[in-house]
Amino acid sequence: MDALELLKGRRSIRKYKQTPIEPEKLEKCLQAAQWAPSASNKQPWEFLIVTDQKIRKKLADFHPYGKFVAASPVVFIPLTNPQVHAKYHQSDTALATLQFMIEAHSLNLGTCWAGVIGTDFEPKIKELLKIPEHLRVLALVAVGYADETRSSKRKPLTSLVHKESYSLK
Ligand SMILES: Cc1cc2nc3c(=O)[nH]c(=O)nc-3n(C[C@H](O)[C@H](O)[C@H](O)COP(=O)(O)O)c2cc1C
Repeated sequence: MDALELLKGRRSIRKYKQTPIEPEKLEKCLQAAQWAPSASNKQPWEFLIVTDQKIRKKLADFHPYGKFVAASPVVFIPLTNPQVHAKYHQSDTALATLQFMIEAHSLNLGTCWAGVIGTDFEPKIKELLKIPEHLRVLALVAVGYADETRSSKRKPLTSLVHKESYSLK
């Protein structure tokens, strides 16, 4: 499949079937994250996988816009390390997270990113999951088989693209 077709077909999914995720599929998603590009190839990330229902429920309680992590069988939690790359740790880890999500979509799994870094509940999540002080929690990413179909819109390319130099539209 053309990559563009795959990219356009991914939607943020917030309702999930209880069907477990095959371990080999999860492994492939993690490898996709592992192989993301990063500044100076520093790979300033670690990944936490949560499946325990009680912990997912607590995570959902902390996150005002991420209630869906209680329903997905897996939560993928990208951790980012500012000590590894102070300037680009966050963008690098975001790329790894997107690669995880794209691979998941290619395997017919739905995902939804719920942002965490810089929120007032990031410390609560760190405490709950015993995450070391030096790591930051980028996001909670719900993963599972979709129990809904979603649509999405994008701004037209003509409003986004400038040629040769910046021009006002
Ligand atoms: C950095 C970031 C943070 C997000 N945080 C949330 C969130 O807290 N809750 C949520 O429901 N969706 C969240 N999303 C998903 C976006 O709402 C979604 O990507 C956007 O509406 C476009 O929809 P699509 O992914 O289906 O194309 C987040 C996405 C990104 C990239």
